[in-house]
Amino acid sequence: MDLSLDLGADSAIVPLEAPPRTQRYPRLRYMGSKYRVVPHLAGIFSDLRFDRALDAFSGSGVVAYALKEMGKEVVANDFLTFPSTVARAVVENGSTLLDRHDVEYLLSPNEDGRDFIARTFAGLYFPSEDHAFLDAAWSHVDRLPAYQRDLAIAAMCLAAARKQPRGVFTITDFRYDDGRRNLRTPLRELFVEAVRDLNRAVFDNGRDNRVSCGDALSLDPDGFDLVYFDPPYAPPRDDSDYIKRYHFLEGLSVYWRGLKIMEETATKKIEKRFTPFAYKRTIRHALAELFHRFRNSTIVLSYSSNSVPGQQEVYEALAAEKEHVDVHTIPHRYSFGTHAAAQRRVVDEYIFVGR
Ligand SMILES: C[S@@+](CC[C@H](N)C(=O)[O-])C[C@H]1O[C@@H](n2cnc3c(N)ncnc32)[C@H](O)[C@@H]1O
Repeated sequence: MDLSLDLGADSAIVPLEAPPRTQRYPRLRYMGSKYRVVPHLAGIFSDLRFDRALDAFSGSGVVAYALKEMGKEVVANDFLTFPSTVARAVVENGSTLLDRHDVEYLLSPNEDGRDFIARTFAGLYFPSEDHAFLDAAWSHVDRLPAYQRDLAIAAMCLAAARKQPRGVFTITDFRYDDGRRNLRTPLRELFVEAVRDLNRAVFDNGRDNRVSCGDALSLDPDGFDLVYFDPPYAPPRDDSDYIKRYHFLEGLSVYWRGLKIMEETATKKIEKRFTPFAYKRTIRHALAELFHRFRNSTIVLSYSSNSVPGQQEVYEALAAEKEHVDVHTIPHRYSFGTHAAAQRRVVDEYIFVGR
């Protein structure tokens, strides 16, 4: 087995377009999301023979959705609830929409007088009328059938993310205003737009697509011809803590039921969810375990050049389980949430394919 990693010209791939529906996938500014890489991934996927695929770290859901559009049977998984809810709404769900009556119902007055969001987040993130809207919408959500409920929650999360500067919930001053329309638009209007975007994304590919919400290392590895991994690599500086940035969306997706708010924090965030992929000291072992667990499937792995461990190590870990490993290089600009320097950092994106 050749363990030398050659990232030369022969590894570059010709960018294709993302499949047409995927190009219109409802966007959420999500750390590490692969919107811009999807055309390359689709090119790689179309050169591989597979029918049933797993996206084990689905995040925004865009890669699982592209696989769905390519006609595959897809399982999308994320250990956070809000990404799983978005995926259930548009990857698992193939035909249910929110119609005008559903939207009117979701916009109607608070059914049970709940005010958890208004009380807990007073003065944070959004003006009080937006908090009141979210409480009221949630007073209706549990009365909806399954996929309509997922669509409604996904639309709330999308609207809330779109109204945050840089899409993250680390800034507590909602008066921050860079003039962008979304930051000034009432959340209920953004919600209606998000419903429209999500409704448009719903389609049936004739397959039994599924979504789960759990640790990738606990998933049953059987029955996947191909697995796609895009874990939250540890950057050399900073961290890749999704809860720190998206705690409000994670809480909103379950109305904070079963979650503990850290009351002493200015951002009123919830507790971190440990994942071995986000830490330099645990990621090597976690990747090795992941590759071993899914060794019987074709493994496609996204990886960025400013991560720990380095490409060579990732290559070797994959080559320990798979006979043939190819590496594709794509120049890629990441959208990070928290600091301006990080936002503009240009990093290379690699796609490893182990067969
Ligand atoms: C880099 S993002 C994935 C981005 C996604 N491919 C996209 O295009 O939007 C990594 C995701 O892994 C999830 N995650 C972290 N640890 C996990 C674990 N142990 N099991 C499953 N998901 C995990 C995070 O919640 C996050 O959504």
